[in-house]
Amino acid sequence: MMQNNVVVIPGDGIGKEVIAAALKLLDLLNQAGVVKVKYVMLERDADFYLLNNYILKLEEIETLQSEFSAILFGAIGDERVPDQQHARELLLNLRQKCDFFINFRHLRCLNKKFSPLKSKNASTIDMVVFRENTEGLYTQNGFRLGADSDNSFCVDHMIYTQVKVRKFLQAAFLWAKNNNRKRIDLVDKANAIPNNGRLWREEFDKVSKKYPEIKTRKHYIDAYCCRMVTDPEKIDVVVTSNLFGDILGDLGAGITGGLGLAGSANINPETKFALFEPIHGSAPDIAGQGVANPIACFHSLSLMLSHLEYTVAAKALDSTIEKLVTDPAEEGALTPDLGGQGTTNTLTQRALHLLEKELS
Ligand code: NAD
Ligand code: IPM
Ligand code: MN
Repeated sequence: MMQNNVVVIPGDGIGKEVIAAALKLLDLLNQAGVVKVKYVMLERDADFYLLNNYILKLEEIETLQSEFSAILFGAIGDERVPDQQHARELLLNLRQKCDFFINFRHLRCLNKKFSPLKSKNASTIDMVVFRENTEGLYTQNGFRLGADSDNSFCVDHMIYTQVKVRKFLQAAFLWAKNNNRKRIDLVDKANAIPNNGRLWREEFDKVSKKYPEIKTRKHYIDAYCCRMVTDPEKIDVVVTSNLFGDILGDLGAGITGGLGLAGSANINPETKFALFEPIHGSAPDIAGQGVANPIACFHSLSLMLSHLEYTVAAKALDSTIEKLVTDPAEEGALTPDLGGQGTTNTLTQRALHLLEKELS
């Protein structure tokens, strides 16, 4: 079995709590011999930033890329840092410098009880959001003039390069084909943001021609948000730009059981280097209370193991997650966001028990 070296960055708030929980599962998988993952901890958080005035240097990012197969990440965000400069320096720089141009967010409703869409057949919701992850409104290009006056103005450029859009769409279509998906929706705001809209639509049409078996449609983001709530079971694969993907990911999480369940993968399909993280943030409102739901981080760990080709381990972890969320016997063990009385710790103990059974 191949050994993989992974770097673990817990980050801020509940990032630390859910990563600690996920590492217990990884330790068990290592002990059981179904994975060979050596991990090192990289403690970079708001405290580090406030003390050192930086969080992750560009040369450190290069070292991470050359020495590790993947990054397992918790969450970043702390109100002491003005406008979350450290989060951009850590997470956006990692995404941009490592060219993780795919952000893969699989939103599946494992238990319709946890969907707020009571009138719908929520258990059939199974959508994948492909979020372009390096450009768009996230390139950190912009400025503000006259900030000390009452007549200032500001610019945040929305930039897309044709080559990046094409590579992103090609990767999404290829994934859809390989995973037997039937439909891809392009979601944009081409009526109000025409240059980006035109470029994306042209590339979408060109790439989709090579996949005649996949149905396609173009939608505006505003109406699509409505559709995601009224007809979510009809949504299959979504391709969209950076900011819209950020928003649709959380909306998809909201209708399938909440932020406590959804993991994600940031991938560079060319180098295969990747970063795995829950889609939620540092949740300062519950941080330190021991009640964060670690399942989104378990899901991220399973995505990482699958990416590293530890298929048996990833399957066992997925079954563990499914049992936790669907077995009525586990209801009480769940954390308060899912209506249970469990804590991060007691839920993790249940997960370890179930995972051990899966492996035996
Ligand atoms: P958030 O995702 O941190 O929290 C939103 C709500 O969901 C909160 O009420 C929180 O308690 C709840 N929640 C989130 N994850 C949960 C979990 N695992 N278990 C139980 N409840 C959970 O979003 P926010 O409050 O808008 O942002 C807080 C900070 O996190 C901000 O600084 C933001 O910039 C940052 N953030 C970071 C990331 C990331 O690291 N990838 C993602 C989103 C937000
Ligand atoms: C996410 C987060 C980040 C984003 C923030 C923290 C910059 O919301 O990973 O979804 O907008 O991408
Ligand atoms: Mn987000």
